[in-house]
Amino acid sequence: MSFTTVRPASWQVCLTCGSELLETDPAVRCTGCGGLLEVRHRPPELPGAVLRTLFQTRCCTRPDTTHSGVWRFRELVLPGATDEPVSHPEGNTPLLYRESVARWAGVPDLFLKHEGHNPTGSFKDRGMTVGITQARRIGAQAVACASTGNTSASLAAYAAQAGLPAFVLVPAGKVSMGKLAQTVGYGARVLAVKGDFDACLRLIEASSAELGLYLLNSVNPFRLEGQKTIILELLQQLGWEVPDWIVLPGGNLGNTSAFGKALEEAKAWGLIDRLPRLAVIQAAGAAPFAAGFEQGFRERVRVDAETVASAIRIGNPASWDRAVRVIQATDGVVLAVSDEEILAAKGEVDRAGIGCEPASAASVAGLRRLAAEGRIDPHARVVAILTGHMLKDTDRLLGGPAGRKKAVREIEPTAAALARAIKRDRAG
Ligand code: F0G
Repeated sequence: MSFTTVRPASWQVCLTCGSELLETDPAVRCTGCGGLLEVRHRPPELPGAVLRTLFQTRCCTRPDTTHSGVWRFRELVLPGATDEPVSHPEGNTPLLYRESVARWAGVPDLFLKHEGHNPTGSFKDRGMTVGITQARRIGAQAVACASTGNTSASLAAYAAQAGLPAFVLVPAGKVSMGKLAQTVGYGARVLAVKGDFDACLRLIEASSAELGLYLLNSVNPFRLEGQKTIILELLQQLGWEVPDWIVLPGGNLGNTSAFGKALEEAKAWGLIDRLPRLAVIQAAGAAPFAAGFEQGFRERVRVDAETVASAIRIGNPASWDRAVRVIQATDGVVLAVSDEEILAAKGEVDRAGIGCEPASAASVAGLRRLAAEGRIDPHARVVAILTGHMLKDTDRLLGGPAGRKKAVREIEPTAAALARAIKRDRAG
């Protein structure tokens, strides 16, 4: 496609060969070379300072789509869309401060952006409201994704709201019961594939077009447009003062890609005056991107993934190319942390009264290590992203049937038994 007249509000570009597609082209990858696509927008007509005021005034409107933590930023997300979006609404997640977690991480000026406060309990809702809105715009008849559990729950919820049939592929036996229950409850068809997440994604990517399914994994560039608003919202919450570091867990690397795009656009369009650095944290057993970073991204790395953090049990991240650019543009770092470090960080976040799922705690675990190694200055202002809710993965919390027995003690329904139990617990 070529633009002979004025550019439309938005269009798509292949990051590999540079081909351009219409914004409403249903292809999820470049139809020429198979490369990843990116949505590009004409710069907003309003200057940065005016946009900031506009976004602020929308925060306190009645709870409709304008109030959504995604659609409040619509000029930077999907400026050309005139239809009413499919919105819960979502976003508007808190930026939390807890001294105990900050002390444990070794960075006193630490905020936690808790994306587990989204409607289905993870950041995926921000991408899915845009993905499903786009599905409706292009007239999709059914939607699909591969998932470690959160994307599927979110897809199922938004597809239900839009009245679209939804199909999800999950790695058999590898998804938490909570996430699976959400997906089934919202009415999606779940297919448990005898393979890992990477096999699920390969399968659905190869078959979705032929089966008439609009693919809503984060390879779909419209998902990333929604996920950009994690960054926009946290910047707004900080009064548009840029933190020194933003730390996030990395799996399929959709969020890493979205964060980089949001930051570069925010700077280009006058919302902020500098870029923070990004730190992407992977679980050691699922850390191809960290291995790539160590080698200066000379080549793409793939691994057979294994970690307790099931949400990021991914060995061949789909958004690799986009994420490499982001790490380079933000002078970022990528680090792998052990499952023990992840669970220790989760314990700290849980005991601070916040709670998160294991994959989310990777960001706090990574921050602690980066601060201890002097790679993040202890005086830096840091925002760590908690990507999912504590109730997403409860098996870990209670440590299986044996742990549950220890954590939840049964007693007789008598005052004496109650007093005995409390006395014993207080004595430690
Ligand atoms: N944290 C949680 C809670 C997740 O569910 C995911 C990804 C990530 C972090 C990693 O984000 O892929 O953008 O690097 N979950 C996907 C899913 C893969 O299917 O729910 P990413």
